[in-house]
Amino acid sequence: MYYIGIDIGTTSVKMLALDEKGSVVKSAVKEYPIYFPKPLWSEQNPEDWYIQTVNGLGELLEGLDKSEVEAISFSGQMHGLVILDEEDKVIRPAILWNDQRTEKECRYLNNDIGREKISEWTGNLALTGFTAPKLLWIKANEPLNFAKIRKIMLPKDYVAYRMSGVFASDMSDASGTLYLDVKNRKWSEPMLNLLGISKSQLPELYESYEVIGFLKKDLADKLGLNDNVKVVIGGGDQAVAAIGGGVTGTEACSLSLGTSGVIFVATDDFHVDSKNSLHSFCHANGRYHQMGVTLAAAASLKWWAQEVIGSENFDGLLAEAEEAAIEDSVFYLPYLMGERTPHNDPFCRGVFIGMNMTHQRKHLTRAVLEGVAFSLRDTFEIMKAMGIRAPIVRINGGGAKSKLWCKIISDVLNVKVEKLNTDEGPAYGAAILAAVGSGRFATVESACASFLKVTESIDPDETNVGLYNQKYKKFREIYPATKELFRKLTVN
Ligand code: XUL
Repeated sequence: MYYIGIDIGTTSVKMLALDEKGSVVKSAVKEYPIYFPKPLWSEQNPEDWYIQTVNGLGELLEGLDKSEVEAISFSGQMHGLVILDEEDKVIRPAILWNDQRTEKECRYLNNDIGREKISEWTGNLALTGFTAPKLLWIKANEPLNFAKIRKIMLPKDYVAYRMSGVFASDMSDASGTLYLDVKNRKWSEPMLNLLGISKSQLPELYESYEVIGFLKKDLADKLGLNDNVKVVIGGGDQAVAAIGGGVTGTEACSLSLGTSGVIFVATDDFHVDSKNSLHSFCHANGRYHQMGVTLAAAASLKWWAQEVIGSENFDGLLAEAEEAAIEDSVFYLPYLMGERTPHNDPFCRGVFIGMNMTHQRKHLTRAVLEGVAFSLRDTFEIMKAMGIRAPIVRINGGGAKSKLWCKIISDVLNVKVEKLNTDEGPAYGAAILAAVGSGRFATVESACASFLKVTESIDPDETNVGLYNQKYKKFREIYPATKELFRKLTVN
């Protein structure tokens, strides 16, 4: 039997097929464009996700016994707003998780409606990336589009809908909409009223490991698959990546070095801290989690390498960066797309500070890696202050491939970093959900226990931990010193 996991990411769709033992038998990646039509905007065409998913599946299935494919499931970039009209046509490009156009709508929700109410109804506060403020933005700025809306969905739900014909979502991804009552795992009536939308425009809610239907016949025929291939809904990329890292309980936390950077802890029960500093969401195993998000993690390195240096040679850049000393004075703030945790500030921006004439490319590359690690430490410190203990982290995402970056994370957070037999994170987690949904395992936990093994660990180095503690203190001073300046420079 094969279980297929598909991760609808921000830069590409990544997919893999697992066999009965949990070994990856094949994988495929297909890229698609992202558009930044205005400084704070970030959009994609949902059609691109679907077309590239189908193209990727064609490649993935080549040479495999197609009759053995049992189930398909998904992981998806969260929060993106996809709206369809009465003919099931996409009304406008999807507004993505890292889009920052909704500062005004967030102020209305958090200040005019009030943080207490929003938190009571949803377990969270309004953040520019979340889906509800995007709907308010459409209502205010594109009223004709708002009037046309018949279906509202998230990125992976769109692909699942095109593939199965079933209009569905799951609790983990729906948590990031700000119109789910996260604690009670149902749509929030007061939020729907406030947004001016109704349940009939929203998908049916499932747990991430549940079957929603089967592949549509025409798609199954096109791919040479049986039409009894089960479609399991899957979840938001962070929850699903955590499943792919075996993070279902409190023994380890999940750290994502994808386009965004995330620290994620699983909890049995629903928790929300008094300041709503962290996101309080449903997990993909039927329980809950909390997480903090830095918006440009691997995106910072990609930007630095490709846009600034003009190089695709990531290995070379990373090898160079290893030669730069921790004691160096260059700092980088990774706020290329504004920032979520801990500043919740769409106007802050990326910064290099502290250069002198001795500095070379390697120092700035290292500063990028460290700046992202420090930004993740901001979330880690909030978690520690809340009494959350996470001595072990499992890293996933493109950045996890760099030993140097994993080492820096271990030293900056003073944690043991564990590597598993797979670092495919979200796509692997989605395949686990497919295996659970198809009935191969009774629970997500038993699937993780059967498929995942720790193969390597990196322990923090005491000297480096001390150096980074000092450096982190300095890093913490840069944002407050520049906060007002960003506002002055970037707001018209
Ligand atoms: C999570 C978040 C990002 C996106 C893209 O809240 O916004 O991690 O899911 O990966």
